[in-house]
Amino acid sequence: MMGDQQETLILRDVLIPGGRVADITIRDGLVLHTGAADRGDVEIFCQDTTVLPAGTDLHVHMRDGVQKLKETWESGTKSAIAGGVTAVVDQPNTIPPLISPALVRDRVFLAASQAYCRFAINGAVTGDSDLTGMYRAGVFAFGETFAGPSSYGEAVDFEVLSKTMKQISSWNGIMTIHAEQVTEGTDDSLTRHDALRSVSGEVQTVQDVLNLNSSQCNLHFCHLSSAQAIQSVPVGTATVEVTPHHLFLSKDTFSPDDPRGKVNPPLRSEKTRKEVFSCWDRIDVIGSDHAPHSIEDKDQSFEKAPSGIPGVETMIPLLMGWMVEKKITIPEIIQKTSTNPSEMLGLSPAGFLPGNRADFAIFPEEYTTIHADSLHSRAKWTPFEGMKAIFPEITILGGAIVFDGGEFIRPDLSSSRCDIHQTSLADDPGLSLWIPGRGYTLEKPI
Ligand code: DOR
Ligand code: ZN
Repeated sequence: MMGDQQETLILRDVLIPGGRVADITIRDGLVLHTGAADRGDVEIFCQDTTVLPAGTDLHVHMRDGVQKLKETWESGTKSAIAGGVTAVVDQPNTIPPLISPALVRDRVFLAASQAYCRFAINGAVTGDSDLTGMYRAGVFAFGETFAGPSSYGEAVDFEVLSKTMKQISSWNGIMTIHAEQVTEGTDDSLTRHDALRSVSGEVQTVQDVLNLNSSQCNLHFCHLSSAQAIQSVPVGTATVEVTPHHLFLSKDTFSPDDPRGKVNPPLRSEKTRKEVFSCWDRIDVIGSDHAPHSIEDKDQSFEKAPSGIPGVETMIPLLMGWMVEKKITIPEIIQKTSTNPSEMLGLSPAGFLPGNRADFAIFPEEYTTIHADSLHSRAKWTPFEGMKAIFPEITILGGAIVFDGGEFIRPDLSSSRCDIHQTSLADDPGLSLWIPGRGYTLEKPI
């Protein structure tokens, strides 16, 4: 980058959803013009490609710190942009959990020192969380709130939930919910895991949380894994997120005691997976729940292995495969991976119109077979091994190429006009990628 003014980037002959073919002229992080373009400093020829507004993934676990063998901000955000995702929201079940403004600040600076994409940080909901402090320190949302325990997440009781909702709703903030009930028992196979964290428990928890929400806090249900749970959320009461693994995988994809299929909420039957897909129109957001664990951690006995699977890099590529098979459409992919999650995050929409944020991913026509050794997560394995997908060749963030044919270029939004930050943050290239929540104030910098 590029001094006070960015170079002009032109995407030539972009097929815009709806059928128009146009050149997209990009400068200062924004689409400047859509239509026949003059010369640009950099030009990308987009015939025979699909250009999508890049994804915003509301649900990733970037690990790092004492868990850096599983993932670092560098490896996790490279994985994101190699999958066409340019903004990620980090979940707070870190070690230690993110419950104070000081920990939020440390997390922001750690991320800023390594990130290859935009990022936001969520604050944890526990009985001991300093909610006000974290709000002012710039968390995006509160949660995922464990209404049932998971890897590195303790369950929160209803009294804390209810008090927290009231507090967050006074700021018109967002609370995100991991909805599960866990029955005690031997957890030694995918079938047992599914039974111990049942669909009926998920539905019951969704109902309990909705009933508790007398303060009408903005609620977002993370990674719902059953049609019943999705359908039990009336439109307008909360937003619904579904993961690629609950759309593309079932417990039948794995041998019965393979810990690589262990995730919370669990993979269900093929029948349940298909029913989840039949709720496609009700799904507001596809979020990856990218939860990397090393091969060594995963390849223990089923009972000992942690839950969680990596997925930020394969999320949009898998959906692109379904698009080619005509199971879903391009506008649906854009809505659920980009427009809706960006709007929730307070990021201006990425898109093809003048004034839109110039974050794009450019996909070839050809399928690739997913192999872990071509992915960038430190997990070094993928539950989607051998499946067909279409990966982006080029990813653009803030009007600059950040990923091109396997090469990464670290973004720097510090001189970009689409920057949502106030200047003192934008001066630092790493911090310029941070998306602070609405409670963040410059008068009281973190
Ligand atoms: O399977 C899961 N793993 N579900 C979660 O909610 C947390 C995640 C993790 O952080 O490993
Ligand atoms: Zn979760």
